[in-house]
Amino acid sequence: MDAPFLTTSLAVLTTLSLLALPLSAAAHDFLPLKSSLVVEEYETNILQSSDGTFSSGFYNIYTNAFTFSIWYSNSVDKAIVWSANRGRPVHSRRSAITLRKDGTMVLTDYDGTVVWQTDGKFPNVQYIQLLNTGNLVLKNSSGNVVWQSFDSPTDTLLPTQRIPATTKS
Ligand SMILES: *[C@@H]1O[C@H](CO)[C@@H](O)[C@H](O)[C@H]1NC(C)=O
Repeated sequence: MDAPFLTTSLAVLTTLSLLALPLSAAAHDFLPLKSSLVVEEYETNILQSSDGTFSSGFYNIYTNAFTFSIWYSNSVDKAIVWSANRGRPVHSRRSAITLRKDGTMVLTDYDGTVVWQTDGKFPNVQYIQLLNTGNLVLKNSSGNVVWQSFDSPTDTLLPTQRIPATTKS
């Protein structure tokens, strides 16, 4: 291997790693109040836990049908650990998950129908956050967790997750 080739390779590698930076920086672990994830951007518009282990967003379960889910980012089959609406998938157009001004997280279908939402009223909610444990939480302006996906279990139970003593049906 001669020196010019090596220099060129190094330059290419450096350029590639610089290009990769904005991409990884684009993944957030939180979604602020009054914002949404939309189904049309399901491949890029996702939440990722800060250590990268878990992702959350729209999951394409079959043709034109999506669930709002949490999955292991790096597993080959994107193994799902939680879904808001496993039994009621939404369409591939105009569906969205939104953290509304009143602090409710709402999943809407193409026609605006609310398919799923967080139960309960929580004052001063600020954002949704996907934690490194795979728990999706709503936090208020004091930084306290006021709602968590661990309290409404579906699919796989994660190692740190306990089934709540009272589960609403
Ligand atoms: C946030 O939630 C905690 C726990 O429920 C509560 O004690 C605190 O008062 C809340 N903060 C605000 C600003 O509502």
